[in-house]
Amino acid sequence: MTRIDTVIFPVAGMGTRMLPATKVTPKELLPVYDTPLLQFAIDEALAAGARRIVLVSHPKKAAIEAYLAAEPELEDTLAEKGKSDLLRAVRTTRLPEGVDLKVVMQEEPLGLGHAVLCGGAAALDGPVGVILPDDLILGRPCLAEMVAAYDPNTMKSLVAAQDVSRGKVSSYGIFDCDDASGSGAIPARGIVEKPDPEDAPSTLAAVGRYILSPEIFDVLEGIGQGAGGEIQLTDAIAALGSISAFRFSGDRYDCGSKDGLVEATLAVQASRARHHLRVAAE
Ligand code: UTP
Repeated sequence: MTRIDTVIFPVAGMGTRMLPATKVTPKELLPVYDTPLLQFAIDEALAAGARRIVLVSHPKKAAIEAYLAAEPELEDTLAEKGKSDLLRAVRTTRLPEGVDLKVVMQEEPLGLGHAVLCGGAAALDGPVGVILPDDLILGRPCLAEMVAAYDPNTMKSLVAAQDVSRGKVSSYGIFDCDDASGSGAIPARGIVEKPDPEDAPSTLAAVGRYILSPEIFDVLEGIGQGAGGEIQLTDAIAALGSISAFRFSGDRYDCGSKDGLVEATLAVQASRARHHLRVAAE
């Protein structure tokens, strides 16, 4: 199995769909029940074997770095008061031994492709993972599942994929592939960003998990503006070729939207309640 040492988190976006909630609080720190979106994403990167987390952030989103910094005073207070559950919860925000954090700034939100390019200089050698924290995937950890399916000899990209209704294709990168109904890794001829429903090659959509060959950074350097005037990661993936879509097993919630965040919160609440019932029965 190929190791994915680096996982890039593009978190520099403005989160305008969630205003006014995101006026001061970064979207990635909005809670899903009791846990910020960012924490779910970090846990998923660690489950996939990441050794380096690269945050591509914005100067106005300093709270994201603060969230990942140690808070010895808070930990001491919780320890003194014997609040061991809360202490454990606070300690999960620290990266474990052997995993480091690099933070790079994307001063202007020029697009997801540009954000990934900004993260490239901080990446370790080899293919990189990318997680968009506002795409929450619950259930089986998605990036780990993708790492197991990734074959660098035949794939320059492996992109998480989900079926959407034809009316929604213009919000996603859409794969051009013969066997759009297959499972696991599905080879694709291409991928097109936000097509009109009548032009979309399929209804299989890219969602926020990627494994990318390091050649992606060279391609991103020269790709130029795409849909919406942004530097699109989708365009660079298409230019690189050897694309595979990956139909993942978990449940995905678009937490960049209000309804998606509420649905995810209810799902996590239900799973916590099941857990408490199980523990109580033991
Ligand atoms: P989105 O378009 O969903 O995020 O980008 P956004 O721009 O923050 O949200 P809205 O549309 O204004 O509500 C997907 C991911 O890419 C990151 C975002 O932070 C998000 O995680 N991103 C996007 C960047 O890091 N930089 C960019 O220039 C654009």
